[in-house]
Amino acid sequence: MANLSTRFFGLELKSPVVAASCSMTGNLDQIRKIAQAGAGAVVLKSLFEEEIYVQLQEELNERKELAADPEYLDYFDYVIKEENLNKYISLIREAKSEVDIPVVASVSCISSSEWTLFARKLQDAGADAIELNLFIIPSNLDKNHEANEQFYFETVKKVLEVVTIPVTIKISPYFSNLGRVIKDMSATGIAGITLFNRFYSPDIDIEKGSLISADVFSSEKEYLQPLRWTGIMAPNADCPLAATTGIHNAETALKMLLAGASAVQVASVLYQEGISAISKINEGIARWMDTKKYGSITDFKGKLSIQADHAVAYERFQFMTYFGGKGF
Ligand SMILES: Cc1cc2nc3c(=O)[nH]c(=O)nc-3n(C[C@H](O)[C@H](O)[C@H](O)COP(=O)(O)O)c2cc1C
Repeated sequence: MANLSTRFFGLELKSPVVAASCSMTGNLDQIRKIAQAGAGAVVLKSLFEEEIYVQLQEELNERKELAADPEYLDYFDYVIKEENLNKYISLIREAKSEVDIPVVASVSCISSSEWTLFARKLQDAGADAIELNLFIIPSNLDKNHEANEQFYFETVKKVLEVVTIPVTIKISPYFSNLGRVIKDMSATGIAGITLFNRFYSPDIDIEKGSLISADVFSSEKEYLQPLRWTGIMAPNADCPLAATTGIHNAETALKMLLAGASAVQVASVLYQEGISAISKINEGIARWMDTKKYGSITDFKGKLSIQADHAVAYERFQFMTYFGGKGF
């Protein structure tokens, strides 16, 4: 029987299939089912830095007189942060007492400000690791790429200074020099990088002439971008990589492992097909490994990464190759 164990989050996981941070992983009952389905780890629903500040702003809008009082402001700020944090700490504690797989706390960060000090509390609550969901859409044209990248490096540095548990990051592909940023981030002391987080995207309703929200869930074809970058970066990064976005079945999970991922994180498929998707993916991976006579994940992980003489496939402008001479 194939051994599915792997290492990510600086931890030994019994399966490379991880339940990604999403609303399901903020619910104890679902977390229990995720563990029963054989997930290697669960990343809890994020504590949103943004949410904390929005809530603060809403309270202040209602009581405008307080906005001028710095002492009250500090108090308010403190109380609201404490309240959100305490809820999250309870979630970590309860999840830890319910399941025997690693429980990863997640923070969605948009700044590297003083919230990072709270990271210690997540560790104290018993989280096995922390995933930082770092996201800024680089749409502020007053900021150059260095200013944008600085946020990533500063946030990681501050969190690493206050915790001893492993810290991983989940990033977007929106960098002007993506490979180099991943390489430099991988050397900061973090335990892993997950490629790539998926934002709620805007879409357009042409009938109503209005902006709408695009599908919250990924489609199966979205795996190609993380596949390419996992394949390019896995042999070049100083820490393990995980892949997320568009992984809906065992075939795609296997592709990511072959490209060099140490784990895959799944969310959309849990909503679309139910939590049993995790056991199906595990079974599919094990079946394929048995057929191919691979005893462990390390026997084939990264076999089809860029290192293994596959640079052309990862880098070429394939339209030229595919359509050249075909008269398209
Ligand atoms: C309903 C929903 C809620 C999500 N909430 C979070 C979140 O709180 N924090 C986070 O880091 N990612 C969140 N994500 C992103 C997922 O963790 C995952 O990285 C992304 O959806 C790509 O994986 P998928 O293609 O399997 O959905 C959410 C995704 C979904 C579908």
